[in-house]
Amino acid sequence: MRPETLTDGSVWLDVPTAADIDVVTKLCQEPSIGEWTSMPVPYQRSDAVEFIGEMIPSGWALRSPTWAVRTRPDGDLVGMIGLTDNGDLSAEIGFWLGSAFRARGLMTAAVALVCDYAFRPDEPGPAGPVAMGLVRLEWRAFVGNHASAAVIRRAGFQFEGTIRAGAMQRGTLRDCWIAGLLHDDPPGPVGDWPEGI
Ligand SMILES: CC(C)(COP(=O)(O)OP(=O)(O)OC[C@H]1O[C@@H](n2cnc3c(N)ncnc32)[C@H](O)[C@@H]1OP(=O)(O)O)[C@@H](O)C(=O)NCCC(=O)NCCS
Repeated sequence: MRPETLTDGSVWLDVPTAADIDVVTKLCQEPSIGEWTSMPVPYQRSDAVEFIGEMIPSGWALRSPTWAVRTRPDGDLVGMIGLTDNGDLSAEIGFWLGSAFRARGLMTAAVALVCDYAFRPDEPGPAGPVAMGLVRLEWRAFVGNHASAAVIRRAGFQFEGTIRAGAMQRGTLRDCWIAGLLHDDPPGPVGDWPEGI
């Protein structure tokens, strides 16, 4: 796929580069990132080198794009968001933000941009497809991740249940929540999420 910058004028998403390695290493020391994702703990500079230098380029080649989240064009990376191809015109969304950049709607805006990119028809441009033409986006989070659930609920995902031992975290299976968004779901938050999530 052809990487392109996505923006709504408040947040900028582009492909992370080697220049982002040190800031990713620094931001990923934040305990909540290790707690709620499957990223390595402790997070080492070599993890960022491998992720940015190898995993992100191969992800883009395999319909599993990752973007840096920035608050201005060419600004410092403040978080990341990505899609992992599930096959069958479906992908799983994942994201994190540095703790200093939370509670101001940045990830809510980033998720909206990525959902739009994922669902737009993948008409080929001169240098490759410019979107993905997916039918379904899926979100899975370890049970108790209310901050992530709030972002995904605002994006219009429907809660679909709890999967026991549904996701692996550093060698341990944990229960997870699952939610989905279809390309033709109505826009806006869905009201019928269970109380307390
Ligand atoms: C999940 C995570 C990215 C959510 O971060 P966040 O700052 O809560 O999300 P947003 O950037 O969308 O900000 C939303 C918050 O900003 C507030 N906000 C302010 N202006 C806003 C706006 N214009 N639009 C939306 N929200 C706005 C919201 O009310 C919300 O705060 P609240 O939860 O206190 O109500 C963050 O907690 C994180 O990185 N956690 C660790 C990693 C993780 O869990 N990743 C997900 C794994 S499934």
